[in-house]
Amino acid sequence: MDVYGLIGNPVGHSLSPPMHEAGYEALGLDARYVTFEPPVEGAGAAIEGAADLGVAGLNVTIPFKQDALAAVEPDPLARRIGAVNTVDFSGERPTGHNTDAVGATRALRAHDVNLSGTAVVVGAGGAGRAVAFGLADEGMTVRIANRTEAKADALAADVRGDGSESDEAGGDATGHGLDDLPALLADADVLVNATSVGMEEDATPVPADALHAGLGVLDAVYRPLETRLLSDAAAAGATTVDGAWMLLYQGVAAFERWTGREAPVEAMNEALRDRL
Ligand code: ATR
Repeated sequence: MDVYGLIGNPVGHSLSPPMHEAGYEALGLDARYVTFEPPVEGAGAAIEGAADLGVAGLNVTIPFKQDALAAVEPDPLARRIGAVNTVDFSGERPTGHNTDAVGATRALRAHDVNLSGTAVVVGAGGAGRAVAFGLADEGMTVRIANRTEAKADALAADVRGDGSESDEAGGDATGHGLDDLPALLADADVLVNATSVGMEEDATPVPADALHAGLGVLDAVYRPLETRLLSDAAAAGATTVDGAWMLLYQGVAAFERWTGREAPVEAMNEALRDRL
């Protein structure tokens, strides 16, 4: 039996176990997905030692994504984002990946949103970083707007690769305050909310009249699924993508990396939505 899992604190309400186990069942794989909750002080040793216990793959969530970065060999994208959410123990050394980035881009693409032109990312925390790098890697111009503008500027500089010694081409990115949102959205193609605004509350970080029919709008918030932002976006005629899609596709990407199989996306999606 293959053992996969999630390490974080807290992990009690995680939707990853039912989502991944629905995938194993659909493919007839002999595998389990379990949760680990070490003390918040640090989990680097636990992540490094997991391979000795026979764990084949780990997802990593708050507050251990930076611990994981230091404990494993991160791939270039995870290194640039500065966080690892997926560890693969199949090689000689554990490798670290960030599937939050591809979770956002695959969620948008699954809704026929074209990933070209300009994307506006609202938020510059952990989720905003992954989304901004993911969209920039697709070749999009990325405008990052954040309540604390200095954090948006710093993230934009990281996406551009300012000061980086790598000769990899950096993305086209700029940082902004939330006041710039109407001007930024006027000629944008994609909008992602990567702030916590809208979680458990009827609020949105984006003025409704700045939305338009040409936008593909992803809200990373999935509790609730129907946020104010998404209902405003639907009313404006935009394509809407709820946060469960991003959660689904980050899991799908981890599943595919670990098992080497194409993920049964429908079964995983159903298991996830049953619980939301
Ligand atoms: P996560 O890992 O989920 O991204 P985070 O790192 O705590 O969480 O980041 C939360 C994001 O939501 C930040 O961009 C934060 O803005 P600040 O950098 O200015 O703190 C944003 N955010 C949280 N509450 C907000 C609010 N009431 N209005 C606007 N932005 C908010």
